[in-house]
Amino acid sequence: QTGYITYDPGLANTGSCQSSITFINGEAGVLRYRGYAIEDLVAHSSFVEVSYLLIYGELPTRAQLEQFQDRLTHHSLLHEDMKKFFEGYPPSAHPMSVLSAMVASLSTYYPDSTDPEITELNMIRLLAKLKTIAAFSYKKSIGQPYIYPRNDLSYTADFLHMMFAVPSEPYEVPPLFEKVLDVLLILHADHEQNCSTSTVRMVGSSGADLFAAISAGISALSGPLHGGANQAVIQMLEAIHQDGGNYQKYLAKAKDPNDPFRLMGFGHRVYKNFDPRARLIKKLVDQVFNEMGVHDPLLEIAKKLEEAALQDEYFIERKLYPNIDFYSGILYRAMGIPTNMYTVLFAMGRLPGWIAQWKEMREDPHTRIYRPRQIYQGATHRPYRPLDERE
Ligand code: SDX
Repeated sequence: QTGYITYDPGLANTGSCQSSITFINGEAGVLRYRGYAIEDLVAHSSFVEVSYLLIYGELPTRAQLEQFQDRLTHHSLLHEDMKKFFEGYPPSAHPMSVLSAMVASLSTYYPDSTDPEITELNMIRLLAKLKTIAAFSYKKSIGQPYIYPRNDLSYTADFLHMMFAVPSEPYEVPPLFEKVLDVLLILHADHEQNCSTSTVRMVGSSGADLFAAISAGISALSGPLHGGANQAVIQMLEAIHQDGGNYQKYLAKAKDPNDPFRLMGFGHRVYKNFDPRARLIKKLVDQVFNEMGVHDPLLEIAKKLEEAALQDEYFIERKLYPNIDFYSGILYRAMGIPTNMYTVLFAMGRLPGWIAQWKEMREDPHTRIYRPRQIYQGATHRPYRPLDERE
């Protein structure tokens, strides 16, 4: 304590807001969206229905769900001019930086408003268009023509169709992949005040519009310690595979205080038990690989790494368990999604959560602009020294 300022690096012990959206019990490994257990939502719901639940607070009636789906379907096209924006990027541009810039530019076409109907329409527009922006940025990066949204496909199937179809022949989205991706999007949909959601709230607290706040959230998510971890996990597993599968060597590196290497996909600020999402994804991995009858050497390495870490004193005493990113990349790989799109899929999943949190922040009369203080450790007051007195 320094006077009235509490030094709390990473805001680990600070409640930055009051929220009714997502509940996490890190000790018990519990995750609920609007009071519904993540296990129930994965078993019975869909990503579109969970998006409605997060944003509006209740499970939709059939009529509400149909109207919500219909609005998402009919707002999935981008303004044709936006295709010019993609042309400016080299193929090497990371899709997360393209996504962040494109979302920010939506403010140009759909300005913010005090009219709640416009504000709500802009949330719908963003949820409808992000998957189109994501798929277009992928097609641009591989030099293939854009595939437009199709109104006859589900949200998830439409995204996969825009990713993998080509104009020259019909493409059927594999039902297994549609189901798997829908579950993954549900699992990523919200997670209370994580780094990127706090960023959305912080930017939004200044009165910046929805698209500016979400664009900032996408940038925060791109870091390897946060959403970028799913891509970093696969890169780590590939490095181990190249290194003869020697996972013990990487486990030792992760424990070495002088080595900056961390076991990607392990550890969590809040979960000091299994991340319930990691449990669900691991179950899904086994189902998918059995159903596909395929084998992935990276999966074998991941399972050995997890087993060794969970029995290792260093990880046990620090309560480090697999998090959502440890196995998600394995599933994206199985679906043929390229590694540099993994964090984009995380952003697509997290979008309804970011929207819900931004809406709650904007509607909360107690919201104040985020402006934390600091513990100053710089120079005390000193007189100016003219240039010729400085050697
Ligand atoms: C996500 O917040 C959320 O909810 C995020 C998220 C969401 O849905 O939004 O769940 C998504 O971002 C999941 C996390 C993905 N990141 C990674 O997998 C990267 C690897 N993990 C770590 O960098 C780390 O565990 C964090 C970033 C996830 C959490 O960092 P903390 O809470 O600040 O923990 P810490 O860095 O203070 O670590 C505590 C100790 C340290 O050792 P000591 O200094 O006490 O000796 O544990 C060690 C760390 O060195 N440690 C690790 C480790 N994670 C922590 N050591 C090796 N490998 C790791 N992965």
